[in-house]
Amino acid sequence: MDKNIKIFPTPYELAENFAEEIVSLIKESNEKGMPFTVALSGGSTPGLLFSLLGDHFAKSVSWEAVHFFWGDERCVSPDNKESNFGLTKGKFLDKIEIPSSNIHRIRGEEDPVSEALRYSDEILTFTDSRDGLPLFNLFILGLGDDGHTASIFPGQTELLKSGKICEVVSHPFSHQQRITITGKVINNSDRITFLVTGKNKAGIVENIINKRPDALNFPAYFIVPVYGKLTWFVDKEAAALL
Ligand code: 6PG
Repeated sequence: MDKNIKIFPTPYELAENFAEEIVSLIKESNEKGMPFTVALSGGSTPGLLFSLLGDHFAKSVSWEAVHFFWGDERCVSPDNKESNFGLTKGKFLDKIEIPSSNIHRIRGEEDPVSEALRYSDEILTFTDSRDGLPLFNLFILGLGDDGHTASIFPGQTELLKSGKICEVVSHPFSHQQRITITGKVINNSDRITFLVTGKNKAGIVENIINKRPDALNFPAYFIVPVYGKLTWFVDKEAAALL
């Protein structure tokens, strides 16, 4: 099995191992006196990771030089149960000592078009760059059961080649507006990690990992780091067809 695919018996063990990896990456960065920029995924999968980071790793590392961003956000207020930021805040960010200026949330309550522009500027201000694009040290992604990632949905593959840092999109079924970081920026990251659990994702995971023809329909298939490293953290259920 490809060493960049890590399979864990349970979602808890997956989250625990990944939390340890994040802490180790931050420690390395702290030793070099460098900031560490992380784009967090949304949805429900990272909930366990955030809880573990908040409850078991809050004092394991200095968060002073860590900057948190979100790969995408629903255009809702931060206290809405749909808010990706809201999930992270309650389970994790409220439990660590970190300057509030290091928390770079997408303001879902604002006008989406102007917020996409504002957020793009914030990303440019607080991240390094490579090839004229923002560079995240770590970009965490989820995988939808339709093969979307961040808020890049099937049929919206222009977002993979967009020259913009962020774009406003509509969910194909709910038509909920979202702001997403685009594919070229994601692929410019030093490390990209997919966190995937559950048997409903097993078919998509197999299609993408084994480069099946159907994978061309899945935006997540086109997440291929230009310079960095792509790792899959999957639980046994999501890896069932590998
Ligand atoms: C979002 C996410 C999205 C998510 C996948 C998986 O805002 O919903 O960024 O890309 O990661 O839909 O969601 P689950 O973890 O809930 O399965």
